[in-house]
Amino acid sequence: MESANLNNATQGRPKLNSRPCDGPSHFREMTEDSRATYQKRTVREGYDRLAEEYDAQRSDDPDFLDDFRERVPEGGRILDAGCGAGRPVAETLAEDYDLVGLDISREQVRLASERVPDESFVQGDMAALPLADESVDAVAAYHSVIHVPSTEHPAVAREFARVLRPNGVLLMTVGAGEWVGTNDDWLDTGVEMRWSVPGPEDGASMLADAGFEVLWRRVVDDEMGEKTGFVLARKRG
Ligand SMILES: C[S@@+](CC[C@H](N)C(=O)[O-])C[C@H]1O[C@@H](n2cnc3c(N)ncnc32)[C@H](O)[C@@H]1O
Repeated sequence: MESANLNNATQGRPKLNSRPCDGPSHFREMTEDSRATYQKRTVREGYDRLAEEYDAQRSDDPDFLDDFRERVPEGGRILDAGCGAGRPVAETLAEDYDLVGLDISREQVRLASERVPDESFVQGDMAALPLADESVDAVAAYHSVIHVPSTEHPAVAREFARVLRPNGVLLMTVGAGEWVGTNDDWLDTGVEMRWSVPGPEDGASMLADAGFEVLWRRVVDDEMGEKTGFVLARKRG
């Protein structure tokens, strides 16, 4: 069911500091497939329009990248899924690893390529990754799966499992609790944005279903005094 809750509304990165809404009046009457298509287009076009504003307002994360990188073989290949403008993941890890960033927004890919010019960035959908089976050692998905329509979360988890080598690790933002909603004026830009946040329970269980062992899940306070959740998982060998 479509809902919006201001207490949960900061689970993007910058605060979702404006009025939540249900989106267009015909949204409720759409089929599930049409809603998913609408959500994806809204997210892609939304980030194309507000990528620079998002980048300007982005705050720091709890430092989980250290725990993540300890589990990646030296010089290994990392997929930054939903890389945004290339930070924090690509920017932090590019020096020590072979990094490939993927984002559905062309503008985000452009900004990431500018910020981290020696690495590869590609426009694409994490529900259908343009990567070969078992071709990466690790996947980081920071604040990105939370924008993918819920009906496609299992496909995303399966895609991460497919491209990871056995025992490869995945660090993924799952949010502090399940929440589906939208904001038609995100970051006061007049741009609509949509979220389908799985929360720690569903996030961990969709990963287990896709063949991951969940190593930990953590809900933490972020810099804005809100909560967000992460899961670290390992693809079973
Ligand atoms: C909140 S931003 C996070 C960006 C960056 N990872 C960070 O931590 O700041 C979410 C990003 O996920 C991307 N995204 C959303 N849905 C996607 C999908 N289906 N496939 C690939 N990227 C997607 C968006 O375009 C956006 O750049």
